[in-house]
Amino acid sequence: MSGRVDMGVRIGELELRNPVMTASGTFGSGREYAQFVDLSRLGAVVTKGVSVDSWAGNEGPRIVETPSGMLNSIGLQNPGVEQFCENDLAWLAGQDVPVVVNVVGHSVDEYVAVTERLDAEAAVSALEVNISCPNVDAGGMVFGTSCPAAAEVVRAVRRATRKTLIVKLSPNVTDIAEIARAVEAQGADAISLVNTLLGMAIDTRTRRPVLARGFGGLSGPAIRPVAVRMVWQVARAVDVPVIGMGGITDARDAAEFMLAGATAVAVGTANFMDPTSTVGVVVGLERYCEAHGIERVAHLVGAAWPEKGL
Ligand SMILES: Cc1cc2nc3c(=O)[nH]c(=O)nc-3n(C[C@H](O)[C@H](O)[C@H](O)COP(=O)(O)O)c2cc1C
Repeated sequence: MSGRVDMGVRIGELELRNPVMTASGTFGSGREYAQFVDLSRLGAVVTKGVSVDSWAGNEGPRIVETPSGMLNSIGLQNPGVEQFCENDLAWLAGQDVPVVVNVVGHSVDEYVAVTERLDAEAAVSALEVNISCPNVDAGGMVFGTSCPAAAEVVRAVRRATRKTLIVKLSPNVTDIAEIARAVEAQGADAISLVNTLLGMAIDTRTRRPVLARGFGGLSGPAIRPVAVRMVWQVARAVDVPVIGMGGITDARDAAEFMLAGATAVAVGTANFMDPTSTVGVVVGLERYCEAHGIERVAHLVGAAWPEKGL
């Protein structure tokens, strides 16, 4: 309970003090942001993707701003799970906030290895399995764009952990609800969406793609209507909670995702514009509930559905 509004929500076994999380890859492990944000005011910190061995990431340029959103092709750069546990996780363990670790791999075995390693860490509250990164050749989105492949990864990681298992889906598919049902059937406790949309920018002066890899992932407010639509579709298709993200910059955006059916939300690209965005969303959501006489933020979930309503 915070103020007059009950801001708590539940994702699997995870009790969050409010529904606002950080989106993986846009907040590091929270260390740099801690000088701007009191992490204990957030629902959870979601870390950058962690793999079994260190990944160097892609060649630059790997970020470009377009008039309608940001394109990135970072390529899941990270120090590997051992280094992550020694440094970032050890630091995060001392913060008063649930920690969700984003898990990536090139193969099912790699996803399982990272999951098993993190399962042993008490400081990890939940795992978010990223089968949706568009910026790697093997792994990532390859698993998230077909039902059998998505199901195979989730089946394997589900056997490797009893922690709350969140599966992060790619919007780069024809039928998002079908993939969501496939991962729910394998034991996912929650579904987060969306990851970035595949995009491209070409420099008309050099007549070459701007990003070294050509394609990248589009994020920011430009993708919000697509993400809200997918949250709506998935939340109506599955019984597990949905975590919504894609262009959330303020409390109005967050409320929109919750009304579409998200139980929690994550703030991503907005962190690059304003490092205090996450707390702004927490404060604003509480005010929104107060202004509308909503006693529990959870009452917003799916309230825009035709059969519901507040
Ligand atoms: C620079 C950058 C790095 C990202 N890295 C990851 C990652 O490691 N794992 C992951 O699941 N998503 C990653 N994402 C996707 C975000 O978590 C989020 O799903 C997406 O950006 C949409 O939200 P937004 O529009 O609020 O940024 C990354 C996004 C950006 C912009």
